[in-house]
Amino acid sequence: MTADLFEAVPDVRPSREALADGAVLLRGFAKPFENEVIAALHEIIAQAPFRRMFTSGGHQMSVAMTNCGNAGWVTDHSGYRYDGIDPNSGQPWPAMPGVFCQVAEQAAAAGGFEGFAPDACLINRYAPGARMSLHQDKDELDFTAPIVSVSLGLPAIFLFGGPKRADKPNRYRLEHDDVVVWGGPSRLFFHGVAPLADGEHAVMGRQRINLTFRKAR
Ligand code: SIN
Ligand code: FE2
Repeated sequence: MTADLFEAVPDVRPSREALADGAVLLRGFAKPFENEVIAALHEIIAQAPFRRMFTSGGHQMSVAMTNCGNAGWVTDHSGYRYDGIDPNSGQPWPAMPGVFCQVAEQAAAAGGFEGFAPDACLINRYAPGARMSLHQDKDELDFTAPIVSVSLGLPAIFLFGGPKRADKPNRYRLEHDDVVVWGGPSRLFFHGVAPLADGEHAVMGRQRINLTFRKAR
């Protein structure tokens, strides 16, 4: 009877799931990097705090954002772009920490994309209720490089569609340490995040943080 207590509980979630041709969900992939990633994240947000940006149409996004790396994704009244300078501070974005490059490069390789060297990491913070509507990541110059997305904190429903906005998206639950990689045939597929359900995460508290790595330039 006591022996049963020590038997591993089987994880019912498969460790990898194909979302589309070129797209894969790697469950728990960021676990070995987690502590270092979170420590580096704290340093980044001390230099470049989260802010809720405005779209060119004048709507304030529900997701708060910041960036690290040589290029940061920004949106304002003039539209979307990558910019080397944080418009709030007038300074360059914080450098991409080594551990960020490592997790992104290794996840990309596990997804079939060897040699991924991101120059931009968009950091999204979702409070309960925050969402991201369906969109394509198409502001980058080089579509041969994949997108690598690392989830931390509260679980979210990730919507992954197809090449057309009207393609009905499938829904995937992304948990702490899960990584999604999409590139090649699905590089420009529409994706988004459903409104975040409220909760309290043991490590991250009442929020979800997502790191999306890109080769922007
Ligand atoms: C994004 O598409 O930039 C974010 C996706 C996510 O938060 O999982
Ligand atoms: Fe995106």
